[in-house]
Amino acid sequence: MSTVNSAEYRHIIFEKRGRTAYITFNRPKALNAMNSEVVEELERVAFDLERDPDVWCVVVTGAGKAFVAGADIEALRDFTPAEGRAFNLHGQQVINRLEKLDKPVICAINGYALGGGLELAMACDFRIMSENAKIGLPETALGIFPGWGGTQRLPRLTNAGCAKYYIFTGEYITAQRAYELGVVQEIAEPERLMERTEELAAKLLEKGPVAVRMAKRAINEGMETGLTSAISFDSEAYATVFATEDRVTGTTAFLKKEKPVFNNR
Ligand code: CAA
Repeated sequence: MSTVNSAEYRHIIFEKRGRTAYITFNRPKALNAMNSEVVEELERVAFDLERDPDVWCVVVTGAGKAFVAGADIEALRDFTPAEGRAFNLHGQQVINRLEKLDKPVICAINGYALGGGLELAMACDFRIMSENAKIGLPETALGIFPGWGGTQRLPRLTNAGCAKYYIFTGEYITAQRAYELGVVQEIAEPERLMERTEELAAKLLEKGPVAVRMAKRAINEGMETGLTSAISFDSEAYATVFATEDRVTGTTAFLKKEKPVFNNR
């Protein structure tokens, strides 16, 4: 079953296929660069996804030769400082919202993921990258620096020295290097990218959805706090998962040597 909801959006194709929702950036004239309108559309998509119990997994990708070539540079040139601040804050908030979505979000980097595009990709749960895609944080060439969380998420994914190197120089990161650094978790041949992404989504959908959701929360919370409180949050999250019907379904199916059918409760 497939539902396409693109009528609501100008620059995003939003599609539901089974339990997976696909967000495809589609603003060809600017390589999917994000202006205020795209940020606002992504916010609406995130709002809808937060309330949709039928979607258990989300895929984010781009149409054409880019994933997202960053924030819209024309807008960045024309904004007043106050407008620039508001746009930056809005972008950060929407990206944070995607990061906190209570379902796994896979990013399929099909092409250029630059500046805000890579910052958005880094807020997804994990990334699969086409081997010919190019990613990077080139903002210093524009006299600004990565404003949608790149200065915080790149060092957390890699390390401070590595983040400083790529942010100061603005150099692109090739797929192989991104994989070695842990910025992406898999590289795919361009023509296999979406097929492989769908395989990964299908793999996640076989698992207990509450378990995946709570593991995501535990990891996200833990990345922002010290070990003792993180472990303590973990035990509460574990207790929540333990109280689900899904736990009985999964353990019983294992012992009966059957495939579990989870009900997300
Ligand atoms: N904003 C606005 N327009 C953009 C854009 C962007 N980020 N990226 C590309 N475009 C536009 C180009 O201006 C061009 O428009 P015209 O056809 O009207 O001239 C069109 O998209 C196609 O781009 P190119 O002709 O440049 O295509 P290319 O294949 O030669 O190069 C590219 C591709 C290397 C990605 C190059 O377009 C590029 O370097 N883009 C900018 C990347 C960038 O600096 N991103 C960071 C933005 S700032 C940011 O993101 C701030 C933040 O922290 C949130």
